[in-house]
Amino acid sequence: MGYLIGIDVGTTGAKTILIREDGELMATSFKEYPLHTPYPKWAEQNPEDWWNATVESIREVISKSGVKPDDIKGLGLSGQMHGLVLIDKDHNVLRPAILWCDVRTTEQCIYMREKVGMETLKRITCNQPLEGFTAPKILWVMQNEPQIFEKAYKMMLPKDYVRFRLTGEIATEVSDAAGTVLFDVPNRRWSREILDKLEIPFDLMPPCYESIDVCGRITPSVAELTGLKAGTPVVGGGADNACSAVGNGIVKPGRVSASLGTSGVVLTHMDEVKYDPKLRTHTFCHAVPNKWYIMGVMLSAGGAFRWFRDALGELEKRQAEEEGVDPYEILTREAAQAPVGSEGLIFLPYLTGERTPHGDANAKAVFFGLTLRHTKAHMIRAVLEGVAYGMRDSFEIFRELDLPIQQVYATGGGARSELWRQIQADVYNTELVTINIAEGPAFGAAILAGVGAGVYSSIEEATDRLIRITSSTKPIPENVEIYEKYYQVYRALYPALKPQFDKVSEIVAELHGG
Ligand code: XUL
Repeated sequence: MGYLIGIDVGTTGAKTILIREDGELMATSFKEYPLHTPYPKWAEQNPEDWWNATVESIREVISKSGVKPDDIKGLGLSGQMHGLVLIDKDHNVLRPAILWCDVRTTEQCIYMREKVGMETLKRITCNQPLEGFTAPKILWVMQNEPQIFEKAYKMMLPKDYVRFRLTGEIATEVSDAAGTVLFDVPNRRWSREILDKLEIPFDLMPPCYESIDVCGRITPSVAELTGLKAGTPVVGGGADNACSAVGNGIVKPGRVSASLGTSGVVLTHMDEVKYDPKLRTHTFCHAVPNKWYIMGVMLSAGGAFRWFRDALGELEKRQAEEEGVDPYEILTREAAQAPVGSEGLIFLPYLTGERTPHGDANAKAVFFGLTLRHTKAHMIRAVLEGVAYGMRDSFEIFRELDLPIQQVYATGGGARSELWRQIQADVYNTELVTINIAEGPAFGAAILAGVGAGVYSSIEEATDRLIRITSSTKPIPENVEIYEKYYQVYRALYPALKPQFDKVSEIVAELHGG
């Protein structure tokens, strides 16, 4: 049997997995690297760190698994989206990479909206310029570091820099290119119209492929460095969200993933390109050839639960240590003691502002409806419920767009909690399933490599073969009814509080800066 490698160049580190073609995980390796914040709002990384972590993790999976390099049929790359890498003619990196979570570019977003026009942006990119996306970062360098921009020969996205080092090829693929807001998403090519309007040279953009296309091969010197075989094919790969969708089987209409990591992502596959006219969600090219996906992103999902654990869970942490279990287990047990709907206590999870549906950096978290009856158990449960209400907002947008919702796949760390799965099933009023794969984007990248190398005939064939449903949680009608009532209150709270969120942000900025 053949073997495949998937690499995810993430924000906290590089994760490499080596799988057998029947899906068996042979070895996995994760190597961390730092994230630099030299100024408030900035988030940067050194591309050399991505490269070193990738090399180390490839070496480790090869040695741990004992698989012969000859039997590794292909390699696929996934990565954090939107990050900007600039290189000069001699292929030197010109400045640290500016990451997706860097928000220095508000001015450039406004400039883009004015210069290109929202209607054109919508029609061509299916998105709006957000601080995290790539185009405003290019404009920022053009406007603030012209001496650097002058030397720029090509721009690259994070995983594409790693591809360049592995194969010597400068290339990207449609799913990551879609996150630049310089890409014609319906036609899957760079938009000359937008690039011209922004005076960004067309030649700065790398050639763009479909995700399953082989667009490079391991060079002899990299073979020596990593233990891979020279000539091993490297496919286009994909953005982390696209690869995650492939790895979760979200490759057919009607399948939706609800992922609770630090952030929360609700994502579905589309055979035809559609976008939310209010641009509350993102529409990007899928890693499946000629398909698209749409996703809603919540900034604090699992992150809200973590905040609660760290800010208010000291007792539970201590108890967990005594019992030798995870503090989340103790917190969840406590939450289960509170009734469905937390007796009117509602949590708004906007701890770091919100993307979907509000697109508002000033939004704040709120406990609403506290009374003397409420205990810590109610508060924990309210956090889990509030995150589910926030995810439900994306489901509602999908419904408005007439996108079918037939099967919902619970993924991410939050999917491990039975209580949180039940809350989600009840709040979304859909059955929720879990699957046998927990390797995230790296698994999707390995599938793409398998298709490119001819191990699988298509992404659909591979996912049908490798992914199995392992559990199902059905909505409980009485709970659905209760949550429906509270969800309507939840929805009304943000618009009611919005003016005060803005006011508080102003006061805090005045008193404490930022
Ligand atoms: C998507 C986004 C994040 C990054 C993180 O728009 O900004 O999910 O891809 O890796």
